[in-house]
Amino acid sequence: MKAAMQEMKRTHYNADVAQAPEGSTVVLTGWVQKRRDLGGLIFIDLRDRTGIVQAVVNPETDPRAHAAAHGVKPEYCIALTGEVRMRPEDMRNPSMPTGNVEVAVKGIQVLNEAKTPPYVLEDGVEASDALRLKYRYLDLRRPSLQRNIFLRHKAGASVRRYLDAQGFIDVETPVLTKSTPEGARDYLVPSRVFPGKCFALPQSPQLFKQLLMVAGFDRYYQIVKCFRDEDLRADRQPEFTQIDIEMSFVGMDDILEITEGMIADLFQETIGVDLPRPLMRMTYDEAMDDYGTDRPDTRFGMKLQTIADIVAGSDFRVFSSTLAEGGTVKAFAVKGPHEFSRKDLDSFGDVVADFGAKGVLWARLEADGWKSPLTKFLSGDQFDALAGRLDMGPGDLALIIAAPKDTANASLSAPRIHVAQRLGLIGPDAFAALWVTDFPLLQWSAEDKRLVSVHHPFTAPMAEDLPLLGSDPGKVRSQAYDMVINGSEVGGGSIRIHTPEVQKRVFQAIGLGEEEARTKFGFLLDALQYGAPPHGGIAFGLDRLIMILTRAASIRDVIAFPKTQKAYCTMTDAPSEVSPAQLAELGLKYRKEG
Ligand code: AMO
Repeated sequence: MKAAMQEMKRTHYNADVAQAPEGSTVVLTGWVQKRRDLGGLIFIDLRDRTGIVQAVVNPETDPRAHAAAHGVKPEYCIALTGEVRMRPEDMRNPSMPTGNVEVAVKGIQVLNEAKTPPYVLEDGVEASDALRLKYRYLDLRRPSLQRNIFLRHKAGASVRRYLDAQGFIDVETPVLTKSTPEGARDYLVPSRVFPGKCFALPQSPQLFKQLLMVAGFDRYYQIVKCFRDEDLRADRQPEFTQIDIEMSFVGMDDILEITEGMIADLFQETIGVDLPRPLMRMTYDEAMDDYGTDRPDTRFGMKLQTIADIVAGSDFRVFSSTLAEGGTVKAFAVKGPHEFSRKDLDSFGDVVADFGAKGVLWARLEADGWKSPLTKFLSGDQFDALAGRLDMGPGDLALIIAAPKDTANASLSAPRIHVAQRLGLIGPDAFAALWVTDFPLLQWSAEDKRLVSVHHPFTAPMAEDLPLLGSDPGKVRSQAYDMVINGSEVGGGSIRIHTPEVQKRVFQAIGLGEEEARTKFGFLLDALQYGAPPHGGIAFGLDRLIMILTRAASIRDVIAFPKTQKAYCTMTDAPSEVSPAQLAELGLKYRKEG
């Protein structure tokens, strides 16, 4: 056996066979993608992490190899040796990197047999998500997932190279840490040594990286797992990875410049795309006014416009009552010609329902005039003004929402994206990266019935807005910023509060009493009293960046072993029950429901 293994020691990866000299002998290893028996010849498509090579076994010249080839089935793990040769002209496959060559097999060794896989491991083959996640190690054999995982590795290397060159040092922070519930729910780890007490898994290393600045490390980074027990979406996982960064003696501009350089290098080194720099900057207010969201997708136009002044005074009750109650009327125009039927137009109501608007109104400028449910209520002059504001011509369509300002914004931002996708206005290779700045420091939480931090409570207010903290806290702007690419929030950070006085005032504004603040963040408040330097930072969502770089539709496609939408691992069946003895050791007993 040992001798056979030595004989079959790999000489090339599959992709390298394309460059191997004709007539040279190679040894390849991998998995059988496909076996085809054609008129005596057996063709094996052999797959490894670099691609597929066609191997051919001839019964006349190599009867032993032929007999062995006869027994191999899809996903068998094999080694084979043979001679590289050019394929006959009419058998070449230009769509395959190794499509001009094949290996004339002289010997085959089955390294391990495989059961019939639960589904065919090819891109484009339909299989349920549940099955794919259960057999993740098989699904990961598919070329598209292999590509994503390799690109993810390259991305990590690019980021490390850039940050190392800029003098950042990689410091690990604890995974078993203190629960500081602000934002999402924590994953808790009960302590055996201290019954009744729990560690929490970090939602981010925020406080530790600030403490590293107090300790004088000046420039820190970490590619680090974070844990958040929150509702999952296509771009959210319960454990995800941040590129976490913190710097001392800097202002916002320094952080934006350095980190956009990192993202630009990342795009160049992984997919060869040059992001135009400096990146565009937009204030939070501009983003909300023009796009209805703080995650604007600027790959296409269709900016939102306020038309409240145009429709004011109309008899249409939805307009008059909304405006009387302090709401607004906003709209955007879709350039024609387009294919929306009357039914499509009415169905936009479903798209906005989740955002609180009661419906979407529409108005289309056709060759013979306006078609709209509003024709009874708006004058010709009002329609003309609408066309002027939205820059509409014949064939164009306006979508209109009347609602409280926040609802109108959020509700219009959804159909804006829906329409762009439907009409194919977003090119597959378009990348729009920008910064959103000047976020409000605090926002009202209807659930908690108090002001809460928009970012987190360590974010510094704008110096000139500090006096408003006591009088009109909702108006205070923060020194926070997000990076948005293609409408996805890929990173967020801020300049931090570095004096205990300001930190106390912000805790006060969010109703965090002195005692509670001490219990939760006493160590940070203490640290701020020992010469904490001015500092700030940011964290990028690595998974989301990889989604954009690979154009993956789901965050699961860029993580080797992701969780389901219900935060469950189908492959290992985690979370799972643990033994009563383990629970007893932790002083825990679960109550059976019902
Ligand atoms: P924030 O909470 O904005 O900031 O997180 C930073 C970035 O992490 C990504 N992200 C996620 N990705 C996948 N799944 C999730 N559940 C998830 N949650 C967040 C996003 C987001 O922009 N400590 C601060 C950063 C700082 O101030 O330096 C923080 O964690 O891309």
